[in-house]
Amino acid sequence: MRVGVLTGGGDCPGLNAVIRAVVRKGVQEHGFEFVGFRDGWRGPLEGLTMPLGVEQCRGILPRGGTILGSSRTNPFKVERGVEQITDNLAAAGVDALVAIGGEDTLGVATKLADLGVRVVGVPKTIDNDLSGTDFTFGFDTAVNIATEAIDRLHTTAESHHRVLVVEVMGRHAGWIALHAGIAGGASAVLIPEQPFDIERVCAFVESRFETEYAPIIVVSEGAVPVDAGPGEQGMTLQSGEVDAFGHVRLGGIGDRLASEIEHRTGKEARAVVLGHVQRGGTPTAFDRWLATRFGLHAIDAVAEGDFGVMVALRGTDIVRVPLIEGTGELKLVSAEEYAEAQVFFG
Ligand code: F6P
Repeated sequence: MRVGVLTGGGDCPGLNAVIRAVVRKGVQEHGFEFVGFRDGWRGPLEGLTMPLGVEQCRGILPRGGTILGSSRTNPFKVERGVEQITDNLAAAGVDALVAIGGEDTLGVATKLADLGVRVVGVPKTIDNDLSGTDFTFGFDTAVNIATEAIDRLHTTAESHHRVLVVEVMGRHAGWIALHAGIAGGASAVLIPEQPFDIERVCAFVESRFETEYAPIIVVSEGAVPVDAGPGEQGMTLQSGEVDAFGHVRLGGIGDRLASEIEHRTGKEARAVVLGHVQRGGTPTAFDRWLATRFGLHAIDAVAEGDFGVMVALRGTDIVRVPLIEGTGELKLVSAEEYAEAQVFFG
């Protein structure tokens, strides 16, 4: 069997570990051949391939990014996109596809599977917002990077009696902010699921200064104030640009929040935007472990002809779930989980 592999959407530490596991087990135990598709769905759409075998996978386990490249190409937004994909898969002699991606990439995989393409999905996103799996790989690395940043910011904030606002990724879900905020001892964590009241945030800032410590406010890029109007992006919209899946580019909430806090409390405030630092570099041991196991189980699904599924972590087991279970609805932070963190606010 000849198997195509692609990685789509925002890159994520651990992608290379998945590719390596898929190829190693596929070659060694199933006798498969592989072809790499470049840059997400653009690869099969435009017939962009690269050789992929055990040789190409040597040394990539601890490397961030993806040797296959990535893009946010949406073939359903391209005229005759689906036909182009099926034609190019046939031309490359590909019998099955392993698609490694998040909500958008696996959303495309879900629709293609319905149209008869033999595809197995592997969930990835630093945002950890895919349903059907307890965790996605890349998330642990992002949380560790954000936590280390918060640890460092505490000392400089205290020395200067300043507020430090830390903006982390998380378009729809506040998982990175919540986990890093708890781990780093933040004075408040603001997430997209729970619109924030700026007056309460300022009260947390004031009470934190009363204890002789300096406040660290962790905010997801997608967080919105309670007074944001319907359909309005509140303080978050940075540019009018929209990608092929209809997402606007977010960012800017950290700066807006810092200046609002400074204006309302009279305390000096600065913002730190972690941005793509959270997605770059070497994956943590946990993410390498999870990504490797996802890869091993994904190629087994291919070998068994179990298509239209996604591998998922449940407890410590890797299971298979229908692709739609992972992509149908996002996994958001519940009010109960958010309440746990609130004990430490202020
Ligand atoms: O898709 C995950 C994510 O990390 C989001 O949290 C963020 O909005 C987005 O990627 C930004 O990615 P890019 O700058 O590559 O478009």
